[in-house]
Amino acid sequence: MNRKRLLTRRRTLLLGMGAFTVAGGLRHLNNQFPEIVYEGKDAIGKKNFTVVGDIPLRERAASKGLIYGAASSYRALASNTDYATSFAKECAILVPEAQLKWDALRPSPNRFDFTRADWMAKFARTHGMLFRGHTLVWHKALPKWFAGTVNKRNAERILLEHIKTVVGHYAGKIHSWDVVNEAVFPEDGRSDGLRNSPWLQFLGAGYLDIAFRAAAEADPRALLVYNDFGLNYQYEEPKRAAVLKLLERLKSRGSPVQALGIQAHLWCDNSSKFNPKTLKKFLREIANMDLKILITELDVSDKNLPLDVSIRDRIVAAIYEDYLSAVLEEPAVIAVLTWGLSDRYTWLNETDSRKRLDRSLVRPLPLDTNLKRKLAWNAIARAFDQAPKRHSEQVKSE
Ligand code: XIL
Repeated sequence: MNRKRLLTRRRTLLLGMGAFTVAGGLRHLNNQFPEIVYEGKDAIGKKNFTVVGDIPLRERAASKGLIYGAASSYRALASNTDYATSFAKECAILVPEAQLKWDALRPSPNRFDFTRADWMAKFARTHGMLFRGHTLVWHKALPKWFAGTVNKRNAERILLEHIKTVVGHYAGKIHSWDVVNEAVFPEDGRSDGLRNSPWLQFLGAGYLDIAFRAAAEADPRALLVYNDFGLNYQYEEPKRAAVLKLLERLKSRGSPVQALGIQAHLWCDNSSKFNPKTLKKFLREIANMDLKILITELDVSDKNLPLDVSIRDRIVAAIYEDYLSAVLEEPAVIAVLTWGLSDRYTWLNETDSRKRLDRSLVRPLPLDTNLKRKLAWNAIARAFDQAPKRHSEQVKSE
């Protein structure tokens, strides 16, 4: 490659105090990478991510009164015993990635199929893990029959039947339920910030109250969570404000919402920065409403980062550590779940892959495709080791 071409391919990463230049070695199929600036709190080149000992994440979290776990598909756990072993070693809580969604549980309007979800619940129990439910009300993952069957007249009955059956099925055996997922979407232009979802169209804004009340009735022991994305970065202030308002409204109407789930699908580009102060203020406001907080779907997309794996892994790890060290300062945060455990099984290979760039696999999770711990694992371990200890009564467990 001649010098001119090399220079045009040069990318500068300004990281914290110093500038870290990524040059050579970048062999992207095309020239699509902007200059990425990651202003982590430590200069990336200097950060060492050292971890003392090889204690698994679940134990490091538990020693601080925190719960660590991850999402998994049924297929990965049932087909790969090495993965299942790593999962049981690192995780204290399991959430099915798909198997408790409507389209997985409801092959037809009158039939529920719990086969795979039950297998996962048993896997969790056998390995001393908590089990978490995701999700009872969502505008996505609806079965094919939904659109032609559900309407204004029958929506309440069908929703209540769903919640009673599914929550009742796992009553007493579930740590927490994402009762409603992604109901806030200011972009839809409503004054209450709610998403114009099928549930809203059928039942109005009261569908959230209906769902939380039904879930509480079917399992008074599960922690009832409102779960959403888009709550971390500076520019996401309208979403934070709308979620706060929604939770206030629910609480003022006596709906039994008990926690906020923050998805935390993070990434790295120049416009997506989180400000620890803003974030902590938001978490405090949630906590002041007497709500717990769970980080429910943490992962860090490396799609915008250079091909060089060692650089990518360091930036991903720095984002994990910066994010977790900020949010774990808030005592109301009781649990951290990553959305997957190993890069071998990450949804980002479906939705946010590098296929059109350099065809390399994405590396957003704590373990690599061979189940080896990466710097992201170290970063999470360090954040747990440095987190303030929770008082045990704050952590809901069975
Ligand atoms: C994703 C799964 O990981 C994918 O495998 C599936 O194809 C689509 O759904 N927010 C959520 C999760 O609440 O349910 C989504 O899970 C990821 C985004």
